[in-house]
Parts: sequence; C-alpha cells; structure tokens
Amino acid sequence: MENPKLMVLFFLLILLPSPLSTVVKVEQGKDEPYVGVNVGTDFSDVLSPEELASFLQLQKITHVRLYDADDKILKALAKTHIRVIISVPNNQLIAIGSSNATAAAWIGRNVAAYYPETLITALAVGDEILSTIPSSAPLLMPAIESLYSALVAANLHTQIKISSPNSFSIVLDSFPPSQAHFNQTLSPVISQLLKFLSRTQSPLMMNLYPYYVFMQNNGVVPLDNSLFKPLTPTKEMVDSNTLLHYTNVLDAMIDSVYFSMKNLNVTDVGVLVTETGWPTKGDSKEPYATIDNSNTYNSNLIKHILDRSGTPLHPELTSSVYLYELFNEDLRSPPISEAHWGLFYGNSTPVYLLHVLGSGSFLANDTTNQTYCIATNGTDTKMLQTALDWACGPGRANCEEIQAGGNCYQPNNVNNHASYAFDSYYQKEKKAPGSCDFKGAAMITTTDPSHGNCIFPGSKKVSKKTRQVVNSTRASGAGTVRFFGIPISSFNKDIHMVFYCVVFCWFSLFLS
Ligand SMILES: *[C@@H]1O[C@H](CO)[C@@H](O)[C@H](O)[C@H]1NC(C)=O
Ligand SMILES: *[C@@H]1O[C@H](CO)[C@@H](O)[C@H](O)[C@H]1NC(C)=O
Ligand SMILES: *[C@@H]1O[C@H](CO)[C@@H](O)[C@H](O)[C@H]1NC(C)=O
Ligand SMILES: *[C@@H]1O[C@H](CO)[C@@H](O)[C@H](O)[C@H]1NC(C)=O
Ligand SMILES: *[C@@H]1O[C@H](CO)[C@@H](O)[C@H](O)[C@H]1NC(C)=O
Ligand SMILES: *[C@@H]1O[C@H](CO)[C@@H](O)[C@H](O)[C@H]1NC(C)=O
Ligand SMILES: *[C@@H]1O[C@H](CO)[C@@H](O)[C@H](O)[C@H]1NC(C)=O
Repeated sequence: MENPKLMVLFFLLILLPSPLSTVVKVEQGKDEPYVGVNVGTDFSDVLSPEELASFLQLQKITHVRLYDADDKILKALAKTHIRVIISVPNNQLIAIGSSNATAAAWIGRNVAAYYPETLITALAVGDEILSTIPSSAPLLMPAIESLYSALVAANLHTQIKISSPNSFSIVLDSFPPSQAHFNQTLSPVISQLLKFLSRTQSPLMMNLYPYYVFMQNNGVVPLDNSLFKPLTPTKEMVDSNTLLHYTNVLDAMIDSVYFSMKNLNVTDVGVLVTETGWPTKGDSKEPYATIDNSNTYNSNLIKHILDRSGTPLHPELTSSVYLYELFNEDLRSPPISEAHWGLFYGNSTPVYLLHVLGSGSFLANDTTNQTYCIATNGTDTKMLQTALDWACGPGRANCEEIQAGGNCYQPNNVNNHASYAFDSYYQKEKKAPGSCDFKGAAMITTTDPSHGNCIFPGSKKVSKKTRQVVNSTRASGAGTVRFFGIPISSFNKDIHMVFYCVVFCWFSLFLS
C-alpha cells in the first residue's frame, strides 16, 4: 500500500469490532456462504412448478434443495438463476449402484437434460442412508461412483458435485467436539465417502438440528445456546482439550464433524449443512416448538451465516446452510412437529417474518420496508451496556435523546437506552448488513419502538413536544452512556474493540 491514507484506513478497519465487520469483508466470489431452503412437497395445496419458481424469485431465494429430481420443477427453474441441489431418492440406490448404464441414464434424464439452463449445483445421493437404512450402506459408494463416472462422461463433473446427506447420529461423543468420532461400525463406508469427497473437492453433507440436541439433552444444553442468543462468558461451552469457546450448538456440531473427519485423517473436506431448522408447533412433549423460538433460531442462524464468522475451529470457513424447510408439510405423519417446520404455509403466506432484513435481501417480501434495531429481549445487562457504550462512542450514533433531559431518557434503563442507540446506529449506517447485531444483543423489528415523545430514528412519527435543551451530557445512573469502564470480560474475544475504544474514546474526550 503506497497511499498513507489508505494505510491508516486499513488499520482502522482492522480494529473495527463486529458491528462493523461487514466493512472489512473481502469479496470471496462464489465461495461466499449462502442460505438456501429445502423444498418438500408433502402438503395439500402444492403450488404449480411455475408458481413455485416465481414464489422463490419473489422471496429472493437463490439456493434450493429438492428431495427428488422432479422434471416439471427443474424445467420451471430454468433461467431463474436459482441454484439447485437435486436428490437421488433412497429407493433408487440399488438400481443406480448396480449398473453404470442406469446411472448414465439417470444423469442424462435428470441432469444433462436441464443443465445449464437450470443451474444444478449438486446431487444428493440418498438421504441419511447410513443411519436410517444401514443395510443399504454398501450400495452408497457404488451408486456415487457410477453417477460420478456418468457426470465425467457428460463432462459436467467440475460444475456439479456429488455427495450424500447424513444425520448427525453418525457422530458419536459429539461434545466436547474435539472428542467426537464417527460410529466405528460405519467408518469403512464413511472413509470411502470422504476419500471420494476429497478427490472431487466436494462437501460432506450434514443434516444438523440443534433442536434435537437440545431436546435430547434435557436441561444440559441451554436453550439460549441452541438459539444463538447472546451469552455471558460463563454460559459459553468450553472444549477443555482445545480451549475453544462455543457460543452456540450448531457451531459445536459442525466442529465435531470436522474433528470426526480428522480422526480419519481427512482435513480437506468442508461441511455443507443440507438441513437445519426449528419447528413452530409440537404436542405437549415438544413445548419448545414455538413460532418465537423458530423465528429466533432461523433469524439468528441467517445472521450468523451471512456474518461469515465460521466456527471456533475454522473461523475462516463458514458453512452454507439449507433451512428446513420452505413450506409446512401438512400431510406429514405425526408427531405434530413434523408438519410444522416451514417458513411458509402451503398457501405461501409466511408463518412469521424473519428478523433478517438488515442482513441483505433474503426473504424480502416483507410487509413493510421500515425496520428498526432494538435490544434483544433478555440480553445480559453488562453486555448491553458495553454495546451501548460502543454505539454512542466509537459507533458515533446520535445519543442525545437518551441523555438526561432528552425525550428518550425515560424509562431510564439500559434496555431502553441501548435500543435507542442501536437504532440510531442502524439508521445512520443505512441498515447495512451487520449493522444491527452487536454480538447478538440487537435485533431487527418492524414495529416502531417510538413511545410518547420519544421518536426513534427512522420513524415517521413526529414528536408533539419540541425537544428540551439537553442540559447534561455526562449524567450518571443506570443505563446512561459511559465512555469508560468497559467490562472487558463481556467481550473477552474482542480485544480489538477495547483497544479501539481506548483510542477513540480518548479522542472523543479530547474533542468534548
Ligand atoms: C462402472 O464403470 C467403472 C469405470 O468406468 C468401473 O470401474 C465399474 O466396474 C463399472 N461398474 C459396473 C457395475 O459395471
Ligand atoms: C453405530 O452404527 C450401527 C450400524 O448402523 C448401529 O447398529 C449402532 O447402534 C451405532 N452405534 C451407536 C452408538 O449409535
Ligand atoms: C491416521 O494417520 C495416523 C498417523 O499417520 C495413523 O497412525 C492412523 O492409523 C491413521 N488413521 C486412519 C484411520 O487412517
Ligand atoms: C409478496 O408481495 C407481493 C407483491 O407486493 C404480493 O402480491 C404477495 O402476496 C406477497 N407474498 C407474500 C407471501 O407476502
Ligand atoms: C419503501 O421506502 C421507499 C423509500 O423510503 C418509499 O418510497 C416506499 O414508498 C416504501 N414502500 C413501502 C411499501 O412502504
Ligand atoms: C420482552 O419481554 C417482556 C417480559 O418478558 C415482554 O413483556 C415483552 O413483550 C418482550 N418484548 C419483546 C419485543 O419481545
Ligand atoms: C438542567 O438540570 C438542572 C438539574 O439537573 C435542572 O434543575 C434544570 O431545570 C435543567 N435545565 C434545563 C434547561 O433543562
């Protein structure tokens, strides 16, 4: 870098903490992680393939996984630029694995006939074969190899990857992640699969459900960790072998897959999360299957993926994920939750609105284009205060109204002041991706948080009262803006931030 100004900018960018981390993101081209959706069709009023294609486009969905290779859907997806994973259903494995001719015919009929008008990116061979029908495990590799030979013959093997989705139950002793290993009975097949994936530079497909980990480990795995909620450091899970800190269950699951692969000496295969999600409804045995939890899980998940923070073991590597699933499948057999994993009802009205508008244009058909950023309910007070200090200090949000005498000073508590400061920052940053995160302490809402004379930035409401002259800029008391005394422990992973604040806060003191 020759330009000294650029150099200074560069260093400032390095020092910027996570609310601004989008600024430092380098263009990663096609390796950029994405969020796709699974499209199951087990519901009564299935959209026509054309309606489905336009619905996906309307919702700005860019990646889908189908559970088969439906010819009408593949045709309807042509020229939509939507990327598609198609699947070889379990009941076709025998035929494909035992005959190269059958495999070649399958590729001709389901892939070559549509590609490249329809952007098929991968074949998912079977679904959870190793755990659900282990007796078919010996068929898996022959099927994969013959499909691959057929792709090579059609010269499509560099564009289209082949893999096979697995249930997390093939990973044993999954926590701490460093002790995880694949079920040894299945290791021979898994080893072969991994060799193939490594050779063809394809990902290991995993269906990962923190929901079931939470449900099956009654009380041991906290709900907050499962839902990606902000945690106090004491609630983080620490892997005592690696000293890696886990703030959410999904990252721990992904890392346990990496450690299991490492156990088989495979270190160059990535993980693609082909299914993950949280149900919105269940019977009395599934009390945590609620709309709120589902919205929190999926919204936080999307932010986590698009923030590209990777996992503790592989911060440089963020897995893409496919949400399970696009539509509620009302024809699914019990338990009730089976029919309630969708983001939309069958008639394509949303089950809920994701809190992700600030993260880009995913599922953009929102009812309003006005969004606000507020403190997440239940965030630890210290964490909120730290984030509040950052927003009003280095973040340069306009925090006048929450000083004593300001219209938004009351109620005088950290939650209220943080909400105002977060929203001020978010609107100032023009709702840029990542500008409403504050390490999970903030969330996007479509409800105008203004109250009384307190008008939040971005609101079209007008105050009835003209604003009082702000009398004091350094009032003390609960939830006021402090520029010093940041509790380092709340952000122990973000020394940069503390450093940045020391420099910047000193500077702002100097100016004031
Ligand atoms: C399929 O083709 C591959 C290589 O082209 C060959 O090694 C394999 O034996 C064939 N499999 C069958 C079942 O014919
Ligand atoms: C490992 O896999 C085998 C074959 O599917 C299965 O019978 C066994 O129960 C699995 N072991 C564990 C601990 O899940
Ligand atoms: C992995 O590599 C180590 C060291 O080279 C070797 O001892 C071990 O047997 C290998 N494990 C497998 C499953 O190949
Ligand atoms: C999305 O927006 C379009 C156009 O405003 C509207 O016709 C459609 O009903 C909306 N869909 C959903 C699911 O809200
Ligand atoms: C969205 O915002 C733009 C610009 O602020 C405005 O012109 C437009 O009317 C808004 N649309 C809706 C549906 O509110
Ligand atoms: C936050 O929690 C309180 C008490 O639990 C509840 O009354 C309030 O509605 C919640 N606010 C939001 C935005 O969820
Ligand atoms: C300034 O603050 C003092 C004490 O906090 C108060 O008595 C006074 O009325 C305030 N002045 C204005 C203009 O708000």
